Amino acid sequence: MKTISEIRADFPILATKVYGKPLIYFDNGATSQKPEAVINKLNEVYRNYNGNIHRGVHALSDKSSEEYEIAREKVRSFINAEKKEEIVFTSGTTGSINALAFSFGERFINKDDEIIVSTLEHHANIVPWQMLCERKGSKLKVIPVNDNGEIILEEYYKLINQKTRIVAVTQVSNALGVIVPVKEITEAAHSMNIPVLIDGAQGIQHAGTDVRESDFDFYVFSGHKIYGPAGIGVLYGKEKWLSELPPYQGGGDMVDKVTFEKTTYGALPLKFEAGTMNYPSAIGLAAAFDYVLSIGREYISSQEKDLLTYATEILSGIRRVKIFGKSDKKISTISFLIDGIHMYDTGMVLDKLGIAVRTGTHCAQPVMDRMGIDGTVRVSMCFYNTREEIDALGTGIEKVIQMFS
Ligand code: ALA
Repeated sequence: MKTISEIRADFPILATKVYGKPLIYFDNGATSQKPEAVINKLNEVYRNYNGNIHRGVHALSDKSSEEYEIAREKVRSFINAEKKEEIVFTSGTTGSINALAFSFGERFINKDDEIIVSTLEHHANIVPWQMLCERKGSKLKVIPVNDNGEIILEEYYKLINQKTRIVAVTQVSNALGVIVPVKEITEAAHSMNIPVLIDGAQGIQHAGTDVRESDFDFYVFSGHKIYGPAGIGVLYGKEKWLSELPPYQGGGDMVDKVTFEKTTYGALPLKFEAGTMNYPSAIGLAAAFDYVLSIGREYISSQEKDLLTYATEILSGIRRVKIFGKSDKKISTISFLIDGIHMYDTGMVLDKLGIAVRTGTHCAQPVMDRMGIDGTVRVSMCFYNTREEIDALGTGIEKVIQMFS
């Protein structure tokens, strides 16, 4: 078992300074930092065996293709999908949801059909469905939340009906850190034979997932938020759904036979992987999964729980700080405002102290509207953060209050 110092040493950027101060990185919800293992893996691909996948008979292409398919198998195992064919690589969560909204929409959505999302969604799980609704004349229905940002299940049960074609909800609110009752949501949808898409962008790195046990029809996430490289993501879909859906992009590698009269498509998952995929990042993502597994889910979970409890205590103890999303089911993310001080002022002063937080609407304007605010300051922590960093955040917030008083 590694110590926290050893874990932090795995992430070179954590030892850097900004404005001459030690970096305190609390913007893990936007993107996570990368361990040496991932950085080295990318280096290894480009230095030793870079070749376009599935396209050559030469050694480099063979090796890249092999590593890419090993990565697919690692994703399968990490989320406990039944088959490797159910794992489609994409550019990220946004790419995955857009692909699904287009493809599922083409096949299954007609005029007056309904699609359910929640108030908590990131824009990536709202806008693609709205675009689909505009194309097809279908309707978007929204599950409301209470003042703590918790889904009101009773209202969801009222929304779901014979016209509902898919329920698309996040596993965790990116803006507030509140965990969504995806089990109950999935069970209710399945009782009416309606498929569910779970947006795991903020869930997989904290809460993990088991798509088979949870019986999700679709599950999506980004590599860069789980310590992997940017530009790679996953669309998991049960084979029975993916085999029914049309491709969303045409091009090389996704075809079986092409003639000017007719084209037939390749088998799963390649029919959804047109063009040169980001194979180096897929291979890097597999290295990130190996790293996460070496640290262990239990350690990650207990460390993050401790950080959440401690940071909530520190922030709640500061007069004028108001926390949004006060739920007892949260990941290690806290959204707050200081009464009378603009979020950008808070964020900029903290930055000068070496503390990176995110400010604004967090690409989740509807939930900010629901809270009656323009945005928040968001502190998103993960297992490599420490109580000492939270103490420094507390001191930093006191400083902001002093400066603007
Ligand atoms: N979706 C990312 C976030 O929540 C960028 O910050």
